[in-house]
Amino acid sequence: MQSFIKVENLTKSYGGLKAIEEITLEIRKGEILSLVGDNGAGKSTFVKTLAGAQLPDSGHIEIDGEDVRLDSPKKAGFYGIGCLHQGLGLIDTLNVPENVFLGRELQKKVLGIFPQLDYQRMRTETRDLLNQFSIKLPKLNDAVVNLSGGQRQTIAISRLLLQKVKLVIMDEPMAALGVEEGSKVFNLIEKMRSENVSVLIISHNLEHVLKLSDRIAVMKNGKLIKVLEAQNTSREEVVKLITFGLS
Ligand SMILES: Nc1ncnc2c1ncn2[C@@H]1O[C@H](COP(=O)(O)OP(=O)(O)OP(=O)(O)O)[C@@H](O)[C@H]1O
Ligand SMILES: [Mg+2]
Repeated sequence: MQSFIKVENLTKSYGGLKAIEEITLEIRKGEILSLVGDNGAGKSTFVKTLAGAQLPDSGHIEIDGEDVRLDSPKKAGFYGIGCLHQGLGLIDTLNVPENVFLGRELQKKVLGIFPQLDYQRMRTETRDLLNQFSIKLPKLNDAVVNLSGGQRQTIAISRLLLQKVKLVIMDEPMAALGVEEGSKVFNLIEKMRSENVSVLIISHNLEHVLKLSDRIAVMKNGKLIKVLEAQNTSREEVVKLITFGLS
């Protein structure tokens, strides 16, 4: 598999504390890579540097062979990196297409002059996108306030997919979801892989991690201690690495 992003010797400190230290890792095109580790291991700090939410103190990030400086989420978005935040950034009173197109609404010209939101086209394109990723939502026209956690997450992911992201970062995506809801998001993640989108997931749920991932990166005390092929490892091995490190 080709690599999409290569990270070399990434370090970030908060005061005297090294939240991440000399992280070197590649994320391949169309792979699901999980990031695991104890609380405070540095997982969120690491993904923040990729999402443009936090500049590293030192190190390099290379995307498709180009050295990049991801100093804002917008810049990260420009390079095809999208991040699913905990709050998801949905607006409760808007419906599904309005949320999917939020900030990049489609317009049409009435009588050739007056710009107006093109609800029809946003709706059609939303439906096409949802179909492409086999996402089922009950009613597109209802305000999203009444939708479930999993459905809301699906909409937030759809918004990223609409922007043609190449890497989706998810910090604890399934944590707040019930079993059935979680399995739907699960399916969506697998579908993204089949469309050659890379997915970087932080999760404490090792059952999910083992089932879903191509590779599992284990962090401890700010360091990346091992990257495992999910097929060739076990829950015991992962737990041991998380708890005791390489010793
Ligand atoms: N904004 C910040 N200011 C100061 N210290 C921070 C900040 N963010 C993180 N840290 C510290 O950096 C270390 C790594 O934190 P980080 O949030 O990256 O860990 P994590 O692996 O995501 O943990 P968790 O599983 O609990 O979410 C921790 O010791 C944390 O206290
Ligand atoms: Mg975290």
